[in-house]
Amino acid sequence: MQIIHTASALRQALKSQTNIAFVPTMGNLHAGHIHLVEIAKQHGQCVVVSIFVNPLQFGANEDLATYPRTLEADCDKLKTAGATIVFAPTVEEMYPDFDGNTLNQTMTITAPPIANELCGASRPGHFSGVATIVMKLFNMVMPQVAIFGQKDFQQLFIIKQLIRQFNLPIKAIGVDTVREANGLAMSSRNGYLSVEQHHQASQLNQSLQNIVTQIQNNTQQNHIINFHQLENEAIASLKTQGWIVDYVSIKSALTLSDASSTDSHLVVLAAAKLGNTRLIDNIEFLRALH
Ligand code: PAF
Repeated sequence: MQIIHTASALRQALKSQTNIAFVPTMGNLHAGHIHLVEIAKQHGQCVVVSIFVNPLQFGANEDLATYPRTLEADCDKLKTAGATIVFAPTVEEMYPDFDGNTLNQTMTITAPPIANELCGASRPGHFSGVATIVMKLFNMVMPQVAIFGQKDFQQLFIIKQLIRQFNLPIKAIGVDTVREANGLAMSSRNGYLSVEQHHQASQLNQSLQNIVTQIQNNTQQNHIINFHQLENEAIASLKTQGWIVDYVSIKSALTLSDASSTDSHLVVLAAAKLGNTRLIDNIEFLRALH
């Protein structure tokens, strides 16, 4: 496995590759990331994993400074997993006009309107930062396939639009969320949780499961479903359990617009904080309409 830090060395290493599967990450890798590498191996002969904590997608009061940087341990895991190349650029490499203080990235991708909803409502500019860095990484790696975790459902949705609207010859593949034994979605940010919070964190997934069960039961019985009521009940219940809820939302999985009685392919998404740790999760599901 090669570890590469510059775009020019990466291009050189990839010169003769025509079957590249790409896994973009911000490092601090866990079993969920390794699963993405496993899937990538099924789609490409050459598996490139990028590790870059992207300043452009963090808000002013977010965890950019404290986000765990664990390159050596990450590379050990990726070698064992069978990655071909780790691309771990510096901020200067990714942002050529960075002056040590400001990125000076004056040209960015304007994310679609959905980027201002759900996670984007409380993280303004986040998805523009994600789309911009993913576009830069795509330009450097030029993969045929790119693999993303479904945990970041909205991110994957926006990246698919980026690929389509910029005519990129890349297939984006979403991979099921890997969960801990208690149902908690694996995330690099889980490391911020205390032991007690870690146990409690399973409540987020449970509240989503509960919504899915209610939708399935009501659909089977042909009952009219009040989606907003289900969302509000879940929010109230999480708040009672000590969460600071950003949103719980039931959407069409195909358009990310509000779920309606005629949508059979749905996704229920949530973001909430336990203490200072913001967690997200979602469940995508189908229901049989009569
Ligand atoms: O999902 C992530 O880890 C990041 O948002 C990504 C896609 C690597 C872009 O920085």
